[in-house]
Amino acid sequence: MKPSTIIAHYGEDRKDYHGAVVPPIFQNSLFTFANADQIDDAFSNMSEAYIYTRGNNPTVKMLEEKVAALEKGEACKFFSSGMSAISSAILHFVKTGDHVICIDSVYGPTSNFLTEYLGKKFNVAVDFVKGNALEEIKRKTKDNTVLIYLESPSSGIYACQDLELIANYAKAHHIATIVDNTWASPIFQNPLSMGIDVVVHSASKYLCGHSDVVSGAVISSKKIIKALFMEEHQFLGAKMAPFEAWLVLRGLRTLPIRMERHEKSTLQIIEFLKTSPKVKEILYPKDNPIAMKQMSGFGGLFSVVLNTDAKGARNFIDQLKLFSIGVSWGGFESLAYAPIISLSKELSQEKLEASGIHPGLIRLFVGLEDPEDLILDIRQALEVI
Ligand SMILES: Cc1ncc(COP(=O)(O)O)c(C=O)c1O
Repeated sequence: MKPSTIIAHYGEDRKDYHGAVVPPIFQNSLFTFANADQIDDAFSNMSEAYIYTRGNNPTVKMLEEKVAALEKGEACKFFSSGMSAISSAILHFVKTGDHVICIDSVYGPTSNFLTEYLGKKFNVAVDFVKGNALEEIKRKTKDNTVLIYLESPSSGIYACQDLELIANYAKAHHIATIVDNTWASPIFQNPLSMGIDVVVHSASKYLCGHSDVVSGAVISSKKIIKALFMEEHQFLGAKMAPFEAWLVLRGLRTLPIRMERHEKSTLQIIEFLKTSPKVKEILYPKDNPIAMKQMSGFGGLFSVVLNTDAKGARNFIDQLKLFSIGVSWGGFESLAYAPIISLSKELSQEKLEASGIHPGLIRLFVGLEDPEDLILDIRQALEVI
């Protein structure tokens, strides 16, 4: 089945719930059994059976089966957030004394989890790489390297890594690979088909698509997901709630057409921005040869560098009317953020200057509004800088 058909039908059997067109929410904490043999059987098949909702729940399972099929994986486990999915997936492969290679433009909390938490508490060593050249990864590989963590395109500067090349290298050296595929969504990129071991998502973004749920997913082989279920999912207990799974299932119904629209509107807005003398640079991976090789489309998150200073960046986002100021993305609504606001709190003036981050950098997420209205909004906001 193609993605749109998987989303509409896969894993659903209406005769199980009286023909209702929409599957019900199984809003229960536990499951009961008719006799001792039945519960005995369930315990023999813990990772699949319905025993207790911290483990499995039919509403969550329906979402997991659909997302596994969308990512061309064998199995999927949902978590209470993207970060619990990411930290659980990393913990699954890493132990004290191990070494991890990670791309340097990875999502900030993932980087901090590796260095500040695993590094400081569990003596895990991390080397950061740009990730666009295999040579750099080869140079950083050590005898104790167990994991290569990637995010392509990355959500900050949209850096791309050649997933097939890195997966082949990692396999030959018995190193596990994880890709955060949130930016592309399973509609535009499927890292598992390129040989990557594990895909993670913040489902709070495109998969849900309505800015009303925080959740995350890990997709991989049956073997890895079963082990992840028995260990990190069961022990840390960061399970997804049935109602939230139902909301994500509902949001998922329109994922392919939303992605198409996000991309189309974004390209239109970028074309407009290119005509403005107030625009210095646009960051969007569409022309990146690596992205062109391994992706079938692009999303709605990009950045624009305006010819202005930190004050101008603040004035610009304050002036926008249809773009709300906010940090997340992937929903129906357009968003704007000026990273200089948080960076100037986190970094000293000296470090900020050394980082090379332009104060006029604005991150825009293009939602589902009419692109012509969004262009008019940007046009009037550009007037204030
Ligand atoms: C690329 C990426 N990965 C992971 C996360 C974390 O997901 P969550 O906020 O659902 O924990 C985010 C959130 O912004 C993200 O942008």
